[in-house]
Amino acid sequence: MPEPTPDSGPAADVLSALARVIDPEIRRPITELDMVGPVSVDADGAASVQIKLTIVGCPAADTIERDVTAAVAGVSGVSSVAVDVQVMTREERGALTEKLMAGRSRTMQFGPDSLTRVIAVTSGKGGVGKSTLTANLAVALAERGLRVGLVDADVFGFSIPGILGITGSKPTRVNEMILPPVAHGVKVISIGMFVDTSTAAGAAVSWRGPMLHRTIQQFLTDVYFGDLDVLLLDLPPGTGDVAISIGQLLPQAEVLVVTTPQPAAAEVAERSAIVARQTGQKVIGVVENMAGLAQPDGSILHLFGEGGGTEVARRLSVDATAEVPVLASIPLSIPLRAGGDAGAPVVLSDPEDPAATAITGLAESLVALGRGLAGRKLGFSVR
Ligand SMILES: Nc1ncnc2c1ncn2[C@@H]1O[C@H](COP(=O)(O)OP(=O)(O)O)[C@@H](O)[C@H]1O
Ligand SMILES: [Mg+2]
Repeated sequence: MPEPTPDSGPAADVLSALARVIDPEIRRPITELDMVGPVSVDADGAASVQIKLTIVGCPAADTIERDVTAAVAGVSGVSSVAVDVQVMTREERGALTEKLMAGRSRTMQFGPDSLTRVIAVTSGKGGVGKSTLTANLAVALAERGLRVGLVDADVFGFSIPGILGITGSKPTRVNEMILPPVAHGVKVISIGMFVDTSTAAGAAVSWRGPMLHRTIQQFLTDVYFGDLDVLLLDLPPGTGDVAISIGQLLPQAEVLVVTTPQPAAAEVAERSAIVARQTGQKVIGVVENMAGLAQPDGSILHLFGEGGGTEVARRLSVDATAEVPVLASIPLSIPLRAGGDAGAPVVLSDPEDPAATAITGLAESLVALGRGLAGRKLGFSVR
């Protein structure tokens, strides 16, 4: 039952203040989530507010309580604040899940009609920096004010939680709905959040194709991302089951191909792009990673050779309707590598680093590129 809403007076002011408190997981005002119970302010200005959390032990509880206290304390006429923290009943929780998942329960959130731009990051082989790039790109896009989601689709080789520094985070479950942890402004989901990573055996995921498919599907249906401007997917290397599942589930996805400058890597990278195309996905560009490292004397050390990015782009342009560009060349960078190891993305921790500026530049060209495909709704804009 919604609580009676006072129209004016101190209690109404308290309610307006509460409308500015955002649930950190769902990222909507708590007043819209029916999380606010009775509110009162007595003659001496003592405010009392009841808050209903979605679940017991909600990881966001402290943040919400602190934000509520701060918001209410700022209302003129309020002298003290008492917050009574309760937990929703099963019925209330059910109603909230219904409301949030309205029209999309058990179906894909990112179907072809969705306004979210979906970008899958793929590579021919592993170790080319795909996950590092995807995580930093997601953070760079979020920095530009976009609402960004990131699905770690590398089920066996998940590494996104480590790169973003959220290895301890567990998604909150509300009935069938899973709330993704938010890292540096990005909503993130990874199998690494569901397995016991305290032992090597616990962290090892070895599943067959159908189970992989179900996992990816569940990430795209049961995880509540809310409205996103862009969803990035970090794919496992190569052309295996996951790449095919993503192709089937998200045929409208745009694909970024990551390769090293090594000419020999070009052919392998090309193969991953061809599989993406077979499912109807569009290859929007190539990113060359681990390019030349600037030396103290100003010379450039081309550890992994040169020309791989251009070569992949050339090969992919042959059968394409439009030329496939090299969208970025990211140099070898110690801060980029160290930031990944420490869970502190370089685009935030060392934004002047040449690798960071290259990734930021890539984020900007992706925004500028738009979707550019006829017959599709445009949902990609900088706010
Ligand atoms: N430009 C770069 N300079 C230095 N190290 C990098 C660069 N890109 C990635 N790395 C490092 O290379 C390793 C592999 O990167 P990762 O993102 O895990 O690759 P993939 O996801 O393609 O397997 C990581 O240790 C990462 O920190
Ligand atoms: Mg990876």
